[in-house]
Amino acid sequence: MKQKITEDLYYIGVADRRINLFENVYPVSEGVTYNSYLLSDDKNVVFDTADGAYTGAFMANLSDALDGRSPDYLVISHMEPDHSASVKALAEKYPEMQIVVNAKSKVFLEGFFPSLTNRTVVVKEGDELSIGKHVLKFVFAPMVHWPEVMFTYDATDGTLFSADAFGSFGACHAATEERISDGYVSEARRYYTNIVGKYGTQVLAALKKASGIAISRVCPLHGQILQGDDIALMTGLYLKWASYTPEERSVAVAYASVYGNTKKAAEYLAAKLTALGVKNVSVYDVSRTHFSYIIADCFKKSHIVLASVTYNAGIFPTMDSLVREIVRHNIVNRKFALIENGSWAAQSAKLMAEIVSEIKGTCFVSEPVSFRSTPKEDTFSALDTLAETLAKDVNGD
Ligand SMILES: Cc1cc2nc3c(=O)[nH]c(=O)nc-3n(C[C@H](O)[C@H](O)[C@H](O)COP(=O)(O)O)c2cc1C
Ligand SMILES: [Fe+2]
Ligand SMILES: [Fe+2]
Repeated sequence: MKQKITEDLYYIGVADRRINLFENVYPVSEGVTYNSYLLSDDKNVVFDTADGAYTGAFMANLSDALDGRSPDYLVISHMEPDHSASVKALAEKYPEMQIVVNAKSKVFLEGFFPSLTNRTVVVKEGDELSIGKHVLKFVFAPMVHWPEVMFTYDATDGTLFSADAFGSFGACHAATEERISDGYVSEARRYYTNIVGKYGTQVLAALKKASGIAISRVCPLHGQILQGDDIALMTGLYLKWASYTPEERSVAVAYASVYGNTKKAAEYLAAKLTALGVKNVSVYDVSRTHFSYIIADCFKKSHIVLASVTYNAGIFPTMDSLVREIVRHNIVNRKFALIENGSWAAQSAKLMAEIVSEIKGTCFVSEPVSFRSTPKEDTFSALDTLAETLAKDVNGD
């Protein structure tokens, strides 16, 4: 089924409520959408397709929107299969349709569908394509989040087809007039920080290009179409996330504990911080909460506390994977505090410090708190001191 967005723009994407893990990594309890759009003018233009599990539903939506006509162009924003897996079926059904790519996406198109490369129109940065009343302009956004990504700007209506930028998890109703909710922003944050977050510099470059154009509607490839004040709201958040600027001065505490002793120390610290007036302190068991939620919170907050048992002379596996994800996502300029526990030779703090020190601007508010097996009087007083140091730093006095 198609959904009308404007007189000549249709939503023809699909909602996936069956998938458990997006990209086989990220939990999506509320599913995800694969958005696609048809712009109908003298020429009919399709913007991206859908995941291979939904080719049939996508093609049916397109047929409904075309109402007997044929598409003249398919514009490919990037070749990631969640949007491009149905390209071949679409191209086979409409043999006259040409595929609009850039030089890089043409190479990737060849990687996935070698037989389609002789049907391409290759565009360069800033090229325009007139399709009647509408003029499309191609704006390259390399590494947001694939090398070949390009946005398309419909100068006539001010619609920005933004590829995966401004997307979100959640099989929401994409083509709605409703404002985005706080819950939506949370999932958009988790989507951005985990999937695009590493490429802040490139996102800032793309935002700079987009700042020069009048945008009335943003059509992303996942999640809700943005309109009105939501565009400024999300752009403001993207500027923060892409520059790794914390949204709030607060602390995220993540712990790894086998038998509960490290947990006790982490929770004691969190309670102290709250008592000292630090707002929105969050606590995660890294073996329970998927890393993507913790990464999103690390982008949001100014301070990160990592507490881990020493395990087989290393960091506990789930904490090891979190600290490496923090590095992979390039969460620069954060202030850390570390807590370690070991029954015979604690060394997880030293190891965690080595890993997070790889990130530019990492600093530690104090020496690690180290304890043996269970937190005791001296541990609690060291945690009291750490809480005071952190609270001072967070509250800026
Ligand atoms: C499989 C296993 C391996 C461990 N390896 C180490 C180690 O290499 N060095 C060490 O000091 N403690 C080691 N420990 C002890 C833990 O670091 C920790 O002190 C203990 O589990 C108590 O903390 P917890 O209640 O937070 O889990 C190990 C524990 C387990 C279960
Ligand atoms: Fe993508
Ligand atoms: Fe995507």
